[in-house]
Amino acid sequence: MESIASAPGKTILFGEHAVVYGEPAIAGAVNRRATVKIKKSTNDLSILKSEDLGFEVELDTKKGTYTLKKGKPGIIRYILESLSKGHDHSPIEMDLSLAIPIGSGLGSSAAVTVATLAALYQYHGKKFNKKFLAKQAHEVELKVQGIASPLDTSVSTYGGLVYLSRDKKIVKFKNNSNLSFVIGYTMKHGNTGKMVKSVKALKNKYPKIFNPIIKTIGEITDEAKVAIVNNDKKRLAELMNCNQGLLDSLGVNTKELSRMVYISRKHGAIGSKLTGAGGGGSIIAYCPGRENQVYRILNKYDNAIKVNFSREGVIYNTLTDES
Ligand code: MEV
Repeated sequence: MESIASAPGKTILFGEHAVVYGEPAIAGAVNRRATVKIKKSTNDLSILKSEDLGFEVELDTKKGTYTLKKGKPGIIRYILESLSKGHDHSPIEMDLSLAIPIGSGLGSSAAVTVATLAALYQYHGKKFNKKFLAKQAHEVELKVQGIASPLDTSVSTYGGLVYLSRDKKIVKFKNNSNLSFVIGYTMKHGNTGKMVKSVKALKNKYPKIFNPIIKTIGEITDEAKVAIVNNDKKRLAELMNCNQGLLDSLGVNTKELSRMVYISRKHGAIGSKLTGAGGGGSIIAYCPGRENQVYRILNKYDNAIKVNFSREGVIYNTLTDES
């Protein structure tokens, strides 16, 4: 018997960082996924390997440790933490395929966590629903990162384009506005935990300045929700540009991200901003009718992908010998 699960990466349209302090956010699943396969080991050892990431490790699931056989397992802490939640320590072989660049701001850790937990629950025949899975995956992120909102893990679980409300409810948008975006990402990685902590430090040092900025980002997100529902392109773009300015004031912008933000605006984007934690990673450009042009220019100097948000969330299956 083998179990398989996959979950998408995400991109945040509005509200990153502010969401950590209870403000709303809007994010969508992207057409890049993490896939985890689990089968019984042929010997007494538990193995995790990933051809995409070029690593192989031997796992000690009881102790939550590993022995490196090959490569650098950047994402392993999320997998070990997921194993501690969903595995009984019997020897297994795990295979991870990842089509989401690590540290690009596209939610690779959340996608890996959601896919790993879903594959483990399937493997053990445990009944679960998306609400439970999203909650467990958020707990894994919290354990590994120290601070995390439920945004990334919710989007990876539910898919599509979602609004996360102040009381942590997931509201899915109907895809009637057919939104499409271009993501540009640099090879300079951002570190989510580090960026979240640096915003927290600023907020603690200057509460009178930074609390209103965080609140204003929340207001922008609420305005953007209405703009998306009304398919008001101009308003959506203006709000993205405004959100970018405020993210810059939180200290999470970089020279590379700024360059991509302005190059995309010069070549047809009407709105563009960094997306995710910042400090490296990616930008999102809104360029209705000019996606190809913006995609080409971003790909010339950095990397780009075109996304729309009609994607599925987590998918899982058990493959028996008969299936
Ligand atoms: C990271 O993708 C988004 C942040 O808001 C952190 C979080 O929500 O946990 C920066």
